[in-house]
Amino acid sequence: MTVGIERLAAYVPPWVLPIEALADARGVAREKARAGLGVEAMAVTPPCEDVVTLAANAGARLLRAAAVSPDDIGMLLVATETAVDHAKPVAILVHGLLGIRAQCRVFELKHACYAGTAALMTAADWVRAGAARRRRALVIAADVARYPLRSPGELTQGAGAVAMLVGNDAAVLQLGAETGLHAADVWDFWRPLGHREALVDGKYSVDCYLAALDGAFGAYRPREWPELGPGEAFTDRVAHLLFHAPFPKMAMKAHRRLATLDWQAARERWAAVAPRLDDAIAEAYAAQVAPGLEAVARIGNAYTASLYLCLAGLLEREGRRLGGRRLGLFSYGSGSCAEFFTGTVPGRASEATDGGLGRLLAARTEIDVPAYERAFASADAGGDPPAGFQGDFVFTGVRAERREYARVAR
Ligand code: HMG
Repeated sequence: MTVGIERLAAYVPPWVLPIEALADARGVAREKARAGLGVEAMAVTPPCEDVVTLAANAGARLLRAAAVSPDDIGMLLVATETAVDHAKPVAILVHGLLGIRAQCRVFELKHACYAGTAALMTAADWVRAGAARRRRALVIAADVARYPLRSPGELTQGAGAVAMLVGNDAAVLQLGAETGLHAADVWDFWRPLGHREALVDGKYSVDCYLAALDGAFGAYRPREWPELGPGEAFTDRVAHLLFHAPFPKMAMKAHRRLATLDWQAARERWAAVAPRLDDAIAEAYAAQVAPGLEAVARIGNAYTASLYLCLAGLLEREGRRLGGRRLGLFSYGSGSCAEFFTGTVPGRASEATDGGLGRLLAARTEIDVPAYERAFASADAGGDPPAGFQGDFVFTGVRAERREYARVAR
C-alpha cells in the first residue's frame, strides 16, 4: 500500500522585503546576505496575518485545489513553533476556519523546524494503520521566523505555510518505507516562554545541524533498499536532494557534508571524485540541490515549513519531468531532532504537483525597511487585509484575551 502526499498547497504572506534593503539599513555588506547566506528576499507578515491565518490560508487553498470536502479529513495536524497560546492549539483554530468535521483528531505539534516532518510521519502511520478505510489527513506546517532586530539572524527571517493532504492516492510524493533519525539535547536555538523572538547560538547551530545530518543520513544509508553495492552512491539513486533551509547557504553546506559521506562510503566512487572533490560537489549541487532552493531564497526561513516550501518550489518547477524519480529529504529541528527520508514522484505526476507557490510569490507587494519595522512591532495587532491580499482569512485582533479571525469578503 502506498502512502504519501496526495496534494500540496503553499501560502506565503503578501509582503516582501528585498534583502539588499535590509542589509543596507543594518550596515551589512550586500554580498554577505546574497552570497554569504544565499538570501534574496524576506517574506513579511502584515498585521492581519499570524501563524493561524498562514496555516488556514494554505489549508483552504489545498482543499479547493484538490476538490476535497472538509468532511473527508479525519486527522488535522498543524506543526509550528509560532504557537499563539500555551494551551489552545493553532490546529483547532484552523479546524474551525476550514469547517472540518467534528469527528477528527486535531492537534498541534512542536519541535522547532522538525515538527512538520513529525506531523507528516504521524499522519502517514495513521493512514497505514487505517488500511482499507482509506483515511485522509491534513498536515499543515506553518511558521513566522523572528529574531531580534539588528541581530545576525534578522537577515534569515521569513514566513510561510504548506498544507499537505496525506493518504493512499499519493499523486505528489510516495513516501519511502525507511527513514534515518538522529536526536540530541542541544541548546542551539530556543524561545523561552514569553519571548517573541528566538534566542540562538548561531555558529553552534550550524554545527548541530551538520552533526544531526551525519547521524540521520548515517542511520538511513544502510537501510536503503535494494541494498547499495560497495561502489554505489546513494545520491545516484535520487534526482534531487532537499534540505531544511534556514538560509540557502546552509543547504549548500549540508549537501557538501552528505555527498562527502555518501561518496566516502562507496569506495570506487570516492577514488574517482576525491582528486576533484570541490568540482564534483559543485556539479552535484547545481544539478541536485540548487533547483529546490529558488523559492526559499525569496521567502527566507519559514522554520518548519521550510523543507516543504523547498518541495513545493521544486515540484512546481520540475514536477512533470520528475515522474518516477526519487527525492531525498533532510529535516532538522533545533533542540534537536532530524530525519532523512525519501519519496518518489509517481509516474503519473500531473497538475497535483503544482502547489501554487510561484503565482503567490509573483503577486507580492514590495515594502521598505520602515514598513517592515512597523509590521514587526505590530505583529499581534490584527487588521484589515492589504490591497491584493490572496488569503481567505485574516486575523482581526485580540479581544478579551481571545484571538479573532474573519473570512475575507470577496
Ligand atoms: P553571521 O555572524 O551573520 O555571519 O552568522 P558569518 O560571519 O558566519 O557569515 C556568514 C557567511 O557569509 C560566511 O560564509 C561568510 O564567509 C560570508 P561561510 O563561511 O558560512 O561559507 N560572508 C561574506 N560573503 C561574501 N561577501 C562578504 C561576506 N561577509 C561574510 N562581504 C548565522 C550567520 C547563520 C550564524 C546567523 O545568520 C544566525 O544566527 N542565523 C540563525 C540561526 C540559523 O539559521 N542556524 C542554522 C542552523 S540551525 C537550523 O537550521 C534550525 C532553525 O531553522 C530553527 C529551528 O529548528 O526551528 C534556525
